Amino acid sequence: MSDAKIVNLVDESNKRSSQLPLVSGTLGPDCIDIATLYKDTGHFTYDPGYGSTASTKSAITYIDGDAGILLYRGYPIEQLAEKSNFLETSYLLLNGELPNKQQFSSFEHDITHHTMMHESLKDFFKGFHHDAHPMAILAASVASLSAFYHDDLNVDDPADRKLAAVRLIAKMPTIAAACFRYSVGWPLRYPRNNLEYVERFLHMMFEVPSEPLELNPVAAKALDLLFILHADHEQNASTSTVRLVGSTGANPYASIAAGITALWGPAHGGANEAVLKQLNEIGSPDNVETAVKRAKDKNDSFRLMGFGHRVYKNFDPRAKIIREMCHKVLNELGVNDPLLDVALKLEEAALKDDYFVERKLYPNVDFYSGLIYKALGIPTEMFTVMFAIARTSGWIAHWIEQHETPGSRIGRPRQIYIGADTRDYPSGKR
Ligand code: ACO
Repeated sequence: MSDAKIVNLVDESNKRSSQLPLVSGTLGPDCIDIATLYKDTGHFTYDPGYGSTASTKSAITYIDGDAGILLYRGYPIEQLAEKSNFLETSYLLLNGELPNKQQFSSFEHDITHHTMMHESLKDFFKGFHHDAHPMAILAASVASLSAFYHDDLNVDDPADRKLAAVRLIAKMPTIAAACFRYSVGWPLRYPRNNLEYVERFLHMMFEVPSEPLELNPVAAKALDLLFILHADHEQNASTSTVRLVGSTGANPYASIAAGITALWGPAHGGANEAVLKQLNEIGSPDNVETAVKRAKDKNDSFRLMGFGHRVYKNFDPRAKIIREMCHKVLNELGVNDPLLDVALKLEEAALKDDYFVERKLYPNVDFYSGLIYKALGIPTEMFTVMFAIARTSGWIAHWIEQHETPGSRIGRPRQIYIGADTRDYPSGKR
């Protein structure tokens, strides 16, 4: 990394200038460091949606959106999808290196022994109406973890930060499964330590008192892979939210709860739920043409859910892996889902349509994930919760990195004020 080059910016209007250093990372374009711009010239920068703005330096994940490349700690997502598992990937995101055997078994042991929810937390669920959205329950439950673990947590202590990471990664599936079971009126399940991470989650989701559950290894493998693909994605909206909240010194549970609420929106993680609802609404391959027409109509707010991405302008490498896996999983589970035909037709129609081609709108990670979740028996409202379980390891890795970075400051963007000019309170108003 070198910060040697300089951009000279001269502001003719007020004859002030600024020498702005170019900051280089390991990969990716150089960035103009504008930290001194206001001091030097009296100007802010304006970048709604942050399309040209790097908010931080980070060593966790790298994306080249034009080339369709995604790396976790330098490892291509395709290789991790093929060779790793979710817990190992989480260790990698948190620690920067793949674990050796001993490190992995110690990490797995720690996670396995922090999966229980406090019994009092279970009582919180009873306060929710049975048809509350599970993302609302998840966000509230994770925020409430602060009430259980806040007092003894020092965000400046590396050991405390690590413990918080373990607690969050461990408890998220337990809380998520409880959200589901509460919504269907089933008794909550305790985590079983003899099972691996994803199997344990599936057991907590689907085991009923009346009969033993036979866990399907195809389902566990598919879910593990989806968790790897969703584990991190650099400075997306929810991760940036976690970092912004974290920058205030807020505890990790409050920070991750904020990330969960940001993820919920249909433009972000909520897209997986929205995709399935939309495929259901389209209903048949015969209606695809009308849907594509509506998506192109600027007078219609209808968008093709699961298409487009702020960063990927070629293809989403995760979508490539999931597409292939979707066919395989549906075949292996013997599921014949007519929505797959609708999805395939929609993908085909959009990929050859000028509107989508010109705007580089390709299927994203969420276009196919919902079909797999559905095949695994996971209800639509739980799709974004699944995403949240996986993304927790990325969120907490970023939260830790932020606290390990010397000189971190509170996040505080500027604005262009467009309201009323200064004016006097009218006399005789009261
Ligand atoms: N359907 C139809 N048109 C679209 C779509 C879509 N899904 N996505 C973008 N466009 C159009 C926009 O109308 C705009 O057209 P214009 O240039 O004629 O005005 C152009 O493509 C650029 O779109 P923006 O909204 O400016 O792109 P942005 O980068 O801000 O948004 C986003 C990216 C939010 C993902 C968007 O493509 C979208 O809403 N997609 C559908 C929701 C979705 O699938 N979200 C999941 C993203 S992946 C994730 O978060 C896990």
